[in-house]
Amino acid sequence: MSRPTYDVTKTYEWHYEHGPIHDAPPERLAPVRNEQFFGCPVNSTVGVPSGPLLNSKWVRHYARLGWDILTYKSVRSRERGCYDLPNLLFLDVDEQLAGAPSSEQVVALQGTPADPRRATWGITFGMPSRAPDEWQPDVQAAREALDEGQVLIVGVTATPEEGWTEEDVAEDYALCCRLAKEAGAQVVECNLSCPNVKSAESYAYTDPELTRLIAERIRAAVPDLPLLLKMGYYEEAETLRAVMCAVAPHVDGLTLTNGIAKTQVARDGTCAYPEDFRLVSGVGGWGVRDSSLENLRRAAAIREQEGLDLEFLGCSGIMTPDDAAAYYHAGACAVQCATLAMLAPEAVGGLPSRKEVVTE
Ligand SMILES: Cc1cc2nc3c(=O)[nH]c(=O)nc-3n(C[C@H](O)[C@H](O)[C@H](O)COP(=O)(O)O)c2cc1C
Repeated sequence: MSRPTYDVTKTYEWHYEHGPIHDAPPERLAPVRNEQFFGCPVNSTVGVPSGPLLNSKWVRHYARLGWDILTYKSVRSRERGCYDLPNLLFLDVDEQLAGAPSSEQVVALQGTPADPRRATWGITFGMPSRAPDEWQPDVQAAREALDEGQVLIVGVTATPEEGWTEEDVAEDYALCCRLAKEAGAQVVECNLSCPNVKSAESYAYTDPELTRLIAERIRAAVPDLPLLLKMGYYEEAETLRAVMCAVAPHVDGLTLTNGIAKTQVARDGTCAYPEDFRLVSGVGGWGVRDSSLENLRRAAAIREQEGLDLEFLGCSGIMTPDDAAAYYHAGACAVQCATLAMLAPEAVGGLPSRKEVVTE
């Protein structure tokens, strides 16, 4: 078993500089299958979502291991720093978490979980980003590092400022999409659901009119690339329906689901993070699997009822081959693992590709 590629006691900057932690040069661990992803031939429908792949060094490492659908961690139209440590905080979770409410408390774990496949953690980076003149050449390097049968998605997000209108927010997403395309993205994913920042890029996914505006603007900016929207958990199926109907004419798919928001406390009940505004933050890993699957199943039912042309990229809590299979059965065209890929990167060898699970 290989070791985690990320040391939770070290900073984001340290990992950005030093690349993934590993002992031996990476070798492909997954069989090559013959699949498609938005019209691109891929070796498998298994990948890494926006987050673990901080830059081209990370993309190269995971590509070599055989993670085939690789997402460059969300970038912005301007530089943004990272929150202080801890950015990843293991949580004491032994039951699946409900998708809502976010006021439900989860307590920090002392130490490290014995089984990485049962790990649940709080994830709070604040979506740091280099400036475009730094990330664009690095995205190009990431694209060049891919093997045949691999696809680069670039995650992007808006950076709203005081006084911005919704139109400004949508234009900022559109600018990021254009910059990502210029740099070599094959697919662009707009994150509309970061649970850790408290401005428009975190709640946009719940607002049908704002999502429609963003979807229209990004499509106008990038007419010819597959576009994905990364969404959070929907408490109300009718909100999900309204959003899906609003965006379907403009984008190609949804990534479901981002980490879910929970109130994260230390054993003594105080905020688990150095700043109180991080008390309610995103949770990923094992404990969010069932709520994310429920979100995806609801979206798949709505797609069917409304006759919508949208693909779903499945993400959250995929820790085992059976979890991946459940996502395919629920309607995902591909699956991505963040927590598992960081804690047990070799697990890619056991994860099924879509056609091994779903026969049409
Ligand atoms: C280290 C780390 C950083 C993340 N950063 C981002 C990000 O920048 N943008 C984004 O859309 N999601 C981000 N995420 C969320 C993941 O894409 C994913 O939605 C979440 O971790 C749930 O999947 P998992 O259960 O496989 O970890 C991040 C996750 C991790 C673990």
